[in-house]
Amino acid sequence: MTDVRNPLDDGERLDEAALRTLQLERLRTSLRRAYSRVPFYREAFDKAGVHPDDCRDLADLARFPFTTKADLRAHYPYGMFAVPRNRIRRIHASSGTTGRPTVVGYTDADLSMWSDMVARSLRAAGARPSDTVHVAYGYGLFTGGLGAHYGAERLGCTVVPASGGMTSRQVRLILDLEPRVIMVTPSYMLTLLDEFERQGVDPRSTSLRVGVFGAEPWTERMRQEIEERCAIDAVDIYGLSEVIGPGVAQECVETKDGLHVWEDHFLPEVVDPVTGEVLPEGEEGELVFTSLTKEAMPVVRYRTRDLSRLLPGTARVFRRMRKVTGRSDDMVILRGVNLFPTQIEEIVLRTPGVAPHFQLRLTREGRLDALTVRAEARPDATAADRATAARAVAAAVKDDIGVSVAVEIVDPESLERSVGKIRRIVDERPRAS
Ligand code: DLL
Repeated sequence: MTDVRNPLDDGERLDEAALRTLQLERLRTSLRRAYSRVPFYREAFDKAGVHPDDCRDLADLARFPFTTKADLRAHYPYGMFAVPRNRIRRIHASSGTTGRPTVVGYTDADLSMWSDMVARSLRAAGARPSDTVHVAYGYGLFTGGLGAHYGAERLGCTVVPASGGMTSRQVRLILDLEPRVIMVTPSYMLTLLDEFERQGVDPRSTSLRVGVFGAEPWTERMRQEIEERCAIDAVDIYGLSEVIGPGVAQECVETKDGLHVWEDHFLPEVVDPVTGEVLPEGEEGELVFTSLTKEAMPVVRYRTRDLSRLLPGTARVFRRMRKVTGRSDDMVILRGVNLFPTQIEEIVLRTPGVAPHFQLRLTREGRLDALTVRAEARPDATAADRATAARAVAAAVKDDIGVSVAVEIVDPESLERSVGKIRRIVDERPRAS
């Protein structure tokens, strides 16, 4: 697909009008497919009183019902598939930690489209054919490792399939094999940077120049922290297994201004999380995706629970989504105030004397929930620095978010390190009986 002389592929070179025409054509085909082949969609459309033929314009999509994670769970494992089992070439599963997993399937064509989208993402991130790419996303049912892997191969890169974990070995591999690109969760990148420093290696001196970070929310402050510590361009990649995996949207290295949704394949909407109403461009709400070309498991208006905003295209014609603020499931409601871990990340990372490692501990005091921010001291921070930092974090949370929290500045290296997706919230509240 990729021609070194021409850095954009056919989809990326469409103009706005051609893109909208293509989307409508694909949307109509995909809705028809879902309706005729997946009993769940037939029932849901019939119940909502809509038929694929009612979609004459892209705005008509709003008349179709949503699909949720609960719907996928209820049809576990194969009930959402639109092709016979013998056409399924691969299975992945979502990382859901509660309840039944959700299983997703891919035909040959789906796998090929996915690789194309990850290759496109990598190119937008600044990777080039013949680069060596170190993949430290986990390999397995999680889509991160294999999705990144085949996309990098598709671009014509050399892939080091390191997977997650064995941190000191990762550092050895990076030093020896000299990758230019690394694909990893931002929280595990921090673990790797600490390990470089522990081994006496300045991360700025390594071969790494591009980091493609995703699978969890991360902030502009985190970008600054990582870019400064290891002299790379850090860009954001987004995706979810229900839609395909990594490579649904990608930030371009030349602008770093949000992620272009590859909307020739994945049609985005942002809706009000409570009413489900489609919101105008620029307003924050829940991201919803409809697949336009997927064969094995088409999704119609899949509710991601991820909060973001849609903005017009810049470096590419495709619309951008702002960096994800968080998942609605990760929102803490503290005395009526909504709080996301990313807001705490912004504050912790700008506070002198504090390392970029933190955790949020939720407890119950009487009838009220309480939150303690536990953040690690930088190794050179004195006791006085720690006390100042604790006060600064608490004051900033109060000022920026409008709620009081306790802050503990703990010893360096005392919080659990990420090897993949980090868990920021430790919920120690008694379970409702
Ligand atoms: O995390 C796919 C992926 C792998 C994306 C590697 C990027 C890189 P799931 O395990 O199904 O798939 O989890 C999807 O992770 O709904 C978001 O809540 C979160 N997520 C993924 N990418 C980002 C990102 C993969 N760039 C869930 N920023 C999604 C914020 C992200 N959250």
